Amino acid sequence: MTAAVPTDSAAVEVRGLVKRYDKVEALRGVDLTVRRGEMFALLGPNGAGKTTLFSILATLRAPTAGTARVLGHDVVTDRDAVRRSMGIVFQEPAIEQRLTGRDNLLLMGLFYGLGSAAARQRAAELLKQLDLADAADRPAKNLSGGQRRKLELARALVTDPQILFLDEATVGLDVDARRGFWAQVRGLAATGRTVFFTTHYMEEAEVADRIALIDHGQIVALDTPQALKTRVGGGVIRLQTEDNARARGWLTEHGLAPEAGGQEIMLVHADPAAVLPELLRTLPVKVQRVEVHEPSLEDVFLKLTGRGFDGETPVPAGRPGGRNGGAA
Ligand SMILES: Nc1ncnc2c1ncn2[C@@H]1O[C@H](COP(=O)(O)OP(=O)(O)OP(=O)(O)O)[C@@H](O)[C@H]1O
Ligand SMILES: [Mg+2]
Repeated sequence: MTAAVPTDSAAVEVRGLVKRYDKVEALRGVDLTVRRGEMFALLGPNGAGKTTLFSILATLRAPTAGTARVLGHDVVTDRDAVRRSMGIVFQEPAIEQRLTGRDNLLLMGLFYGLGSAAARQRAAELLKQLDLADAADRPAKNLSGGQRRKLELARALVTDPQILFLDEATVGLDVDARRGFWAQVRGLAATGRTVFFTTHYMEEAEVADRIALIDHGQIVALDTPQALKTRVGGGVIRLQTEDNARARGWLTEHGLAPEAGGQEIMLVHADPAAVLPELLRTLPVKVQRVEVHEPSLEDVFLKLTGRGFDGETPVPAGRPGGRNGGAA
């Protein structure tokens, strides 16, 4: 055993982290602190460096430069302690497809040094906790996609880790299966566990306490979802009027600068609720439809980097116009 870890250490502490693969610099000086008990999301386009960062934190790859600590343990000099304290769910399956759900968990428990009775008990607990009774005695390959992902989660939880890394853990699942998965994760977070995750589904990122946006191996913003969104300008107002050209002219004269183009009129404003009543009263053109919505996280990324996350980013629910219909 290594020296006791101060309980006030952060869950994850990354300083000046660089990772180079031959010619690619996947991480270019990342600084990041995840607090204990936090649900923390890392968002960024394909190739931004998310999996690279997770694999360094999980001690599967060594950094080229800089330091990283998990619950106070250094990922290079204290690998075993890091491994004991964390669980990880990768996008790629790690469960053994021919084994039953129960046997997958048993195997993991034995691998981590639990005695056979303890491993059996832990497997039973997890199958119950994650609603995997159906999966207990069937080969993993015969389970539904959602059950398999939950089994991956159960596998990561065998050691009762204080911190959980989820790298696109729900990719490819339908909405119901994702909801079920996240209900379990939120339950864990509620018990004080730290959850550090990546996702390409924006509605999943919304549940995070804080989000780091990563682009080309660098953190470009780090804040609460709400604070990130206010960087776009607070809110988006969309108007459909009887005469949009005239309405645009009037808005511009009154300093409200509508965004260029689009069928509707789009205004980004720090506080839509404060200006909207007055605007609707004084605009000399009849308004047929008005809508106010929050900027999305992708709007934030667009504003910061000039690009969207990637072509596969699902259209956020309730947001007409999709990924290019936002405020950037
Ligand atoms: N083993 C490797 N050898 C060489 N280059 C690699 C290796 N793994 C990743 N890279 C490169 O490092 C960069 C970061 O990759 P990484 O997998 O960390 O991105 P990511 O943010 O997880 O992307 P995605 O959203 O697609 O999963 C990419 O340019 C990638 O091609
Ligand atoms: Mg990845």
